[in-house]
Amino acid sequence: MDKIVSLARRRGFVFPSSEIYGGLGSSYDYGHYGVLLKDNVKARWLEAMVRERDDIVALDSSIILHPKVWEASGHVSGFTDPLVDCRTCKLRFRADKLDEAHCGRKPSKHPGETPDCDLTEARHFNLMFETRIGPVEETGQSVYLRPETAQGIFVNFKNVAQLARRKPPFGIAQIGKSFRNEITPGNFIFRTLEFEQMEMEFFVPPSEVDEWFRYWVEERVGWYDRYGIRPESLRVRPHDAEELSHYSSATSDIEFLYPIGWSELEGVANRGTFDLTQHTNASGTTLEWVDAGTGERYVPAVIEPAAGVNRAMLAFLCDAYDEEVVAERERTVLRLHPRLAPVTAAVLPLITKNSAMVEKAQALRDELRRHLSVEYDDGGQIGRRYRRQDEIGTPWALTIDEQTLSDDTVTLRDRDTLAQERIPIGAALAHLLERLGAPWSPPARPR
Ligand code: GAP
Repeated sequence: MDKIVSLARRRGFVFPSSEIYGGLGSSYDYGHYGVLLKDNVKARWLEAMVRERDDIVALDSSIILHPKVWEASGHVSGFTDPLVDCRTCKLRFRADKLDEAHCGRKPSKHPGETPDCDLTEARHFNLMFETRIGPVEETGQSVYLRPETAQGIFVNFKNVAQLARRKPPFGIAQIGKSFRNEITPGNFIFRTLEFEQMEMEFFVPPSEVDEWFRYWVEERVGWYDRYGIRPESLRVRPHDAEELSHYSSATSDIEFLYPIGWSELEGVANRGTFDLTQHTNASGTTLEWVDAGTGERYVPAVIEPAAGVNRAMLAFLCDAYDEEVVAERERTVLRLHPRLAPVTAAVLPLITKNSAMVEKAQALRDELRRHLSVEYDDGGQIGRRYRRQDEIGTPWALTIDEQTLSDDTVTLRDRDTLAQERIPIGAALAHLLERLGAPWSPPARPR
């Protein structure tokens, strides 16, 4: 993890938030390449969920919802973690995760394992951030920052079902920020207080719920596979009964082998009819499906694939990170899927003082960037520029050299194989688009 954190910092993907004030522990800011990578993760998810299908529509609901939403959803009473404090080391732990925590005085031990540990009784602590609407503290209305995007979908069920003229099975997909006052945030961007979720609620006839659950677990594993996560880094882990959230009758986590061990990347839950029924009872608005033709009516059951953008980004970074020795020199390379990489192609004039080369390179950059994420780089030796692009995961580099000036061809360098080929400059865009559209899988790791 240290190597990923250091690369992310060095290349401006992610850095600690409010750093000039000493940082805020578990908050992070995303720099240029981090934003581009995160945007690509979200774009690929939306593509798979909405653009490539006829049965899912998009939504962007508010972060601050009516407080009754969170009462009805069970979050006010049930979205809690058990918490213990240690009176000796003054640290705070999740009571149900003591075996994963380290004692503040003796990090080789778990809290409670040394004679000096003095743990309090477990208390339940609500994870929702509370704030107020209105300028006057005492009279303002108390509201919450949403801890999941899902509830914004449920409370819009009627609007969307009517306006989008969809019949179950159909889904509503949403990407947006969520907030949780986590007791033990940490492990870089794995667990933070604010994060982005990509959630889709799929409404189905209750009799079909099991088959759709299996379908969505498979679909979601397939999405990570499509974008280059190695099969050996992914597994599906069904929850035990006591682990299930208050709304779920079955959940399977898609876990990734992070440097901290196997941990949740995404959850697929069978939420049954829990949420629509709760909101119907609490709001007085009936949230059900009515077939206008036959008059048939029922409350659809819900299958929910819920992924974290930041955790997905971390998984893609971890799986892509590689170090190797090439021509007796070490190189660090991010073998990101070309459709996730922040920059698709770098355009590099070989000799930066040669104005004809610079002109050609800039003209090529201008043409390519109308269609692709492209970076022009004329800073330093060509070898260093290649290394820099390797570190940010740029799959292809196009170099303009002496020969370009005489025959209008450029060198195309492949990040993974390091193969170089000459292609006509006029065919560069078509060539890149073709390669970008082709299936890609990561090179095998040496055993
Ligand atoms: N609507 C269901 C739901 O929110 P969840 O398992 O609590 O389920 C879904 O969250 C996903 O959101 C997780 O699999 C994870 O990727 C991401 N996530 C949850 N809490 C997070 C946190 N504190 N920091 C970063 N990502 C988080």
